[in-house]
Amino acid sequence: MNLIQSIKDKAKGKKATIVLPEGTEERTIQAAGIIAKENIAKVILLGTKDEVEAVAQKFAVDLSGLQIINPTEAEKFEEYAQDLYELRKHKGLTLDDARQLTKYPLYFGSLMVNKGDADGMVAGAQNTTGDVLRPALQIIKTEKGISSVSGAFIMIVPDCKFGENGIMIFADCAVNPNPTAEQLAEIAYLSGKTAKALVGFEPKVGMLSFSTKGSAKHELVDKVVKATQIAREKYPDLAIDGELQADAALVPEVGSSKAPGSEVAGNVNVLVFPDLQAGNIGYKLVQRLAKAEAVGPVLQGMNKPVNDLSRGCSIDDIVNTVAMTVLQC
Ligand code: ACO
Repeated sequence: MNLIQSIKDKAKGKKATIVLPEGTEERTIQAAGIIAKENIAKVILLGTKDEVEAVAQKFAVDLSGLQIINPTEAEKFEEYAQDLYELRKHKGLTLDDARQLTKYPLYFGSLMVNKGDADGMVAGAQNTTGDVLRPALQIIKTEKGISSVSGAFIMIVPDCKFGENGIMIFADCAVNPNPTAEQLAEIAYLSGKTAKALVGFEPKVGMLSFSTKGSAKHELVDKVVKATQIAREKYPDLAIDGELQADAALVPEVGSSKAPGSEVAGNVNVLVFPDLQAGNIGYKLVQRLAKAEAVGPVLQGMNKPVNDLSRGCSIDDIVNTVAMTVLQC
């Protein structure tokens, strides 16, 4: 069975509720119909009933089993606005500002998740990553003990023996432009958790650099070395090594020659990139040049699950992302 199908199958038993703030968007409504039909999650679409129904009719989507909420007319609107005000008044937010923001579906959705009225949120078919993340970071915040949310991809590379038969986690490819050593250590830990939760494999983490075990000297390399040390101290059960070049991380012969005695070199299945430029470029190159399937970004480290879509996403991408979000609940 393929990985995506197995994620969808696992989601079915969870009976989670996922809010889709872009509830009037055409692909989102079609995806919601599939999610409900396949029983992957209970879906809440945000938007006006008239708009949702018009799109549903156009694409023959059965809306039975889907909940539609128009934020501005919602029973809990004032309660959510008060919640937002309490959460952000120390930042100078007034109650009036909070009421204005609560009208926006991305804020309303985040407030629903914060309150426990939905288990998770998926958006990004219409909005940029920044716009999806900002309300979620402000309202839902990070899980206990974690300072930074990051974004991982499950890379499924065809005809590839590296990682776990071609399946690997790449991170951070989506959120932190220039992580500190402490943030990189957290990214390593969270990516290991993502590997276990979504793909079911034991993580072997490689902290990537342009140097392997001191082959080059530079402050950028020092950051990766420091991150590896921090991760080892903070997460002693995590199998991790660094700094490693990508070939030393992935290829057994190169790993044993460049990093002899390493617990993971040559067999890495979780690749932690030193910054967002490397991570984002890296996953897109593998996706295009190796024709890999890139599933994600899976946001990791959030207090409750929120996931971001690409604006170019397909209906299937939305369905799959909702299924992954359910498994993170
Ligand atoms: N983890 C946890 N909290 C965070 C993080 C993080 N990684 N980043 C910001 N925050 C918090 C801040 O502490 C702040 O909280 P506060 O208001 O309570 O003090 C709040 O979120 C807003 O932070 P800002 O720095 O003011 O927000 P900013 O506008 O910079 O947005 C964002 C943060 C959206 C994550 C930004 O770093 C960003 O745009 N990152 C790059 C996203 C991107 O473009 N990715 C590439 C495309 S995605 C793809 O290709 C798959």
